[in-house]
Amino acid sequence: MRIVLVGPPGAGKGTQAAFLAKNLSIPHISTGDLFRANISQGTELGKSAKSYMDAGELVPDSVTIGMAKDRMEQPDAANGFLLDGFPRNLSQAEALDEILKAAGLSLDAVLDLEVEEDEVVKRIAGRRTCRNDSAHVFHVTYAPPKTADVCDHCGGELYQRGDDSEATVRNRLAVYHAETEPIIDYYKAQGLVSTIPALGEVADVTRRAMDALKK
Ligand code: AP5
Ligand code: ZN
Repeated sequence: MRIVLVGPPGAGKGTQAAFLAKNLSIPHISTGDLFRANISQGTELGKSAKSYMDAGELVPDSVTIGMAKDRMEQPDAANGFLLDGFPRNLSQAEALDEILKAAGLSLDAVLDLEVEEDEVVKRIAGRRTCRNDSAHVFHVTYAPPKTADVCDHCGGELYQRGDDSEATVRNRLAVYHAETEPIIDYYKAQGLVSTIPALGEVADVTRRAMDALKK
């Protein structure tokens, strides 16, 4: 299956993507994680992305679309993928359609994780991320690690992402409303969207998403 996961920052896209990708045996492709990996490796791509991410702005399409395309063309994505954080504006959504069309493929579903703003602010404020792998995510109250500040998966140090400061989170939410929300209507017009209430236990949200994919 080829699936897009959308939702505001802190909605739980990365958390859900990890379970959904495992259940469906497809790779989890997060453009945010790809950028963070490039930043920690000091690549040119990471250098060009960093200032935008720190400010909570979108990294330019000229950098993002090529990176996402390269990742989708890796052998492990031949039978499907779960996109998390891409596309994030209408031109990325159109570019994705073109990329898939050129390969004779199409999307199967778009899952829209719905959570109110107060809750995403709480989720982001308490989030702790692993320095070794930004897909290893915890929350000080909702999903605490077994040992404080230590990743359960790899023993890496947990830290608070630089773009999780209150001012940057506000800008990320504004950018989400202005640039990313319009893609939901774009995909609704294609009949692809399932809205998933994303409040409650992580496992319950995963179940709702899996049920929506079976329809
Ligand atoms: P990205 O990394 O994609 O960030 P985001 O969309 O803002 O999403 P988050 O990672 O903040 O949250 P999430 O929804 O994954 O939530 P999580 O599962 O961690 O992008 C970062 C930046 O990169 C962007 O600002 C931009 O600059 C750039 N970028 C990325 N893609 C781009 C693109 N396509 N184009 C241009 N620029 C791009 O959960 C949050 C917390 O809540 C965690 O602590 C978790 O433990 C907890 N939690 C999760 N589920 C639950 C639950 N059910 N109950 C209680 N707590 C929960
Ligand atoms: Zn880790």
